[in-house]
Amino acid sequence: MQQRPNDGSGNGGNGGNGGNSGNSGNGGAGRRPFAAEEVLPRPHPSSTLSAPLRIAVLMGGANSERYASLSSGVAIARALRWVGHAVAAVDSAQAPIVADRRVDHAFLTAEVEQEDIPETPVSPTVAIPPDLDALAEVRSRQEDGVMAPGVLPILAAADVVFVTTFGDEGEMGNSQRYLEQHAIVYTGPTPEVCDLTFDKVRTKEVITEHGIDTPAWHLVRRDRIEEDLRELTLPAPWIVKPHAGGSTIGLSKVDDPAQLPAACRLAIAEGRDALIEEFVPGRDLTIAALGDRVFAIVEPLSDHEVFSYEAKYTPGESRKEVPANLSPEDTARVRRLTGQVHQVLGIGEATSRADFRLAADGRLVFLETNPLPGMTPRSSYPMSAAAEGVSFPELCEDIVVRALRRAGRSVAEPQG
Ligand SMILES: Nc1ncnc2c1ncn2[C@@H]1O[C@H](COP(=O)(O)OP(=O)(O)O)[C@@H](O)[C@H]1O
Ligand SMILES: [Mg+2]
Repeated sequence: MQQRPNDGSGNGGNGGNGGNSGNSGNGGAGRRPFAAEEVLPRPHPSSTLSAPLRIAVLMGGANSERYASLSSGVAIARALRWVGHAVAAVDSAQAPIVADRRVDHAFLTAEVEQEDIPETPVSPTVAIPPDLDALAEVRSRQEDGVMAPGVLPILAAADVVFVTTFGDEGEMGNSQRYLEQHAIVYTGPTPEVCDLTFDKVRTKEVITEHGIDTPAWHLVRRDRIEEDLRELTLPAPWIVKPHAGGSTIGLSKVDDPAQLPAACRLAIAEGRDALIEEFVPGRDLTIAALGDRVFAIVEPLSDHEVFSYEAKYTPGESRKEVPANLSPEDTARVRRLTGQVHQVLGIGEATSRADFRLAADGRLVFLETNPLPGMTPRSSYPMSAAAEGVSFPELCEDIVVRALRRAGRSVAEPQG
């Protein structure tokens, strides 16, 4: 079967199969093999580095956040290519199709895509959750439950892996644990940070110890719903959500105590405990941090009372105001608190996006922090940075540079 050679105008796709096909099977007239130096592009003028890097963007995964992850990963891969890096787009749930099995070829899409990309790049976001049964089948074939066979050589050939797998793979630190086992440098939170932030109750405990306000809470264990509900002393209304996880799946607002058991069961459906919180009326605010930098405050606006899964991922269901229309005092307060949260949770040189709620009486509460924020075109993290003058490609590169420094690797800065 004849493979279609990539003419250099493709978008890289995923699975590391977007490169030129070195052996296109067309009668031996294919290209000669490449040396690694040849496939690396010149650094783009807008890169902050003097030499291009080999970067593998790890995305996809076999969990319910697959599409959000692919959307983020494709955007990141394009942005990093645009600044001149050699980028392999790798799906952790799919064996790569690399021409004649040379890992170099996974990075070959590097010099393509000269066209300008908008500040927030355009790529599809899918609101429908993927088929979980099909994903479970994929999962059973992954190495260590996180990596498709054949992916490791590509990751190992990279200077750094940009991690943008979500769900239990990225957000629980399993992708990162796998990379650490193989001594591969990666971006974003460490497994220890993921263990902490994925657990909303433990995070709230740490935050509270540092004097930061968070909604009062009550934990309902999955095998003791009736008993634990009897101990509930928080007054209505409530927010009921899974004690771990994200994307607002299984979250509901409850006014009537009779509805609490059902809401708990909904939150528990993913095999976790249920977290009941006092409902804090007010505005949603979210804000990005990276190392010592804190970016602009984003306010998601929608007609929904809570920022639901549909509101988050369906185009037209919500819009975002950046920077949020707040008094200078409130802006300073939220930014200061964001830096503090990032620090007390030990996130260090990595990314985090903190969610807050600001009540009309001025009460500012911390809801949760996401150390592996979405990087889709509709995501708050890139918007928060862009409003502070940091373009998406610059943001992606800064994340990479911090990962390399954290790992003690030297980073080639431009001369002068
Ligand atoms: N205690 C609360 N009071 C009011 N609204 C809340 C509360 N907890 C969550 N929400 C609403 O639900 C959204 C999602 O909650 P969050 O804790 O950030 O979980 P997720 O991991 O799903 O993003 C928030 O952005 C907010 O709109
Ligand atoms: Mg949130």
